[in-house]
Amino acid sequence: MRIAMIGTGYVGLVSGTCFSEFGIDVVCVDKDARKIELLHDNVMPIFEPGLDELVASNVEAGRLSFTTDLKAAVKGADAVFIAVGTPSRRGDGHADLSFVFAAAEEIADALDGYTVIVTKSTVPVGTGDEVEKVIRARRPDAEFDVVSNPEFLREGSAINDFLRPDRVVIGTESERARKVMKQLYRVLYLIETPIVFTSRRTSELIKYAGNTFLATKITFINEIADLCEAVGADVHDVARGIGLDGRIGKKFLHPGPGYGGSCFPKDTLALVRTARDSGAPLRIVETVVAVNDERKKKMAERVVTACGGSVAGKIIAVLGLTFKPNTDDMRDSPAIDLVAGLVAAGATVRAFDPEGMDEAKKLLPDGVVYCDDSYATMPGAEALVIVTEWNAFRALDPSRIKSLLAAPRVIDLRNVYEPAEMRDQGFDYRSIGRV
Ligand SMILES: NC(=O)c1ccc[n+]([C@@H]2O[C@H](COP(=O)([O-])OP(=O)(O)OC[C@H]3O[C@@H](n4cnc5c(N)ncnc54)[C@H](O)[C@@H]3O)[C@@H](O)[C@H]2O)c1
Repeated sequence: MRIAMIGTGYVGLVSGTCFSEFGIDVVCVDKDARKIELLHDNVMPIFEPGLDELVASNVEAGRLSFTTDLKAAVKGADAVFIAVGTPSRRGDGHADLSFVFAAAEEIADALDGYTVIVTKSTVPVGTGDEVEKVIRARRPDAEFDVVSNPEFLREGSAINDFLRPDRVVIGTESERARKVMKQLYRVLYLIETPIVFTSRRTSELIKYAGNTFLATKITFINEIADLCEAVGADVHDVARGIGLDGRIGKKFLHPGPGYGGSCFPKDTLALVRTARDSGAPLRIVETVVAVNDERKKKMAERVVTACGGSVAGKIIAVLGLTFKPNTDDMRDSPAIDLVAGLVAAGATVRAFDPEGMDEAKKLLPDGVVYCDDSYATMPGAEALVIVTEWNAFRALDPSRIKSLLAAPRVIDLRNVYEPAEMRDQGFDYRSIGRV
């Protein structure tokens, strides 16, 4: 079988590479010529653990290639995946579908023979209907079906998530398209991965319902963490105590500075808009969005308070900028609000992130000093703030930290260290939801 993957970003590149690992011939397309050039040189345009080896071996096997020529890639393909971005539309929070529709038009022009067009991008309910209309209007003669197949991979463990997913969701009313999709995911059938076949609209909604549920779970434990601080309880024990209940589950009960990333913020917002427009508002999710936005903005205040009420003219060391470890993705990272808040309060921020600094430079205010390693952020700093729980920050040398900082103050927004141990070492240590 042969497929074209339109959009070679975090999702398209990983999905395309993993399909080629399944034995399918894959052409990944991107309109960003720089990305394609890098891939031709076997340089990954994104950081994702294990991706370079998997790309290299599949290119070598002749199953995976990269191009900017969408038309050539679509010609003769059994399925064409749309994996382009669907960011928040400026102003109203709806998903911006302009990339999806532009890709659909280009695909329409190139169709020859029966083709399954698969929306892998996260798109609001009814987008499949619209994509079908766009293609039909342009090519009344074409034989095609439009299928929804949302992606659930997580950056940082994307390859394993794609090769061994909890489930695959496929939304289509067409028996012919269903057969093609089954064939594409044959390898996962063999390892008994649950495959949820459903209608196209239901499939589109499953993706949003999943992401908003997870965002709600995180926001819930974040608020419980604040309550723990107020009443002198320990949020980790609360999380364990409730998470052991099988109906609740242990995952996504880790408190922090608020959720960020390329999916939760925009997807929660888009679902809120869809629900309002449909006359069925999701009040829980609306509150989650508001609580999380406020939380991210308040993180700078936490640091200022810990520093005695002012950081003007002071150095603050910041470790971790990406929205989570093992990615270079900075989209909607909590570090953005935090660093902006500290700079606005007059601080000089000295920051380090193992993979995210190139992206961070595009999003953080001028004046941030980017350092070469963790310890280089610390000399003369009033406080050390841990924002992202990269492994590299889990075993820092306490005496070295103390010797570098102006004051032995650590604000750990990911609860990487133990409060009692840090206090024993002489730190003014503050974390989330633990006293
Ligand atoms: N990043 C994630 O962890 C994740 C997980 C699940 C689902 N998703 C969803 O997947 C979609 C893609 O997300 P992403 O993070 O991979 O985005 P991304 O921005 O990393 O990649 C999108 C790519 O599409 C390319 N593109 C846009 N229009 C094109 C066109 N007409 N032809 C060829 N290329 C085109 C862009 O140049 C870009 O490289 C989004 O809808 C997102 O919500 C993302």
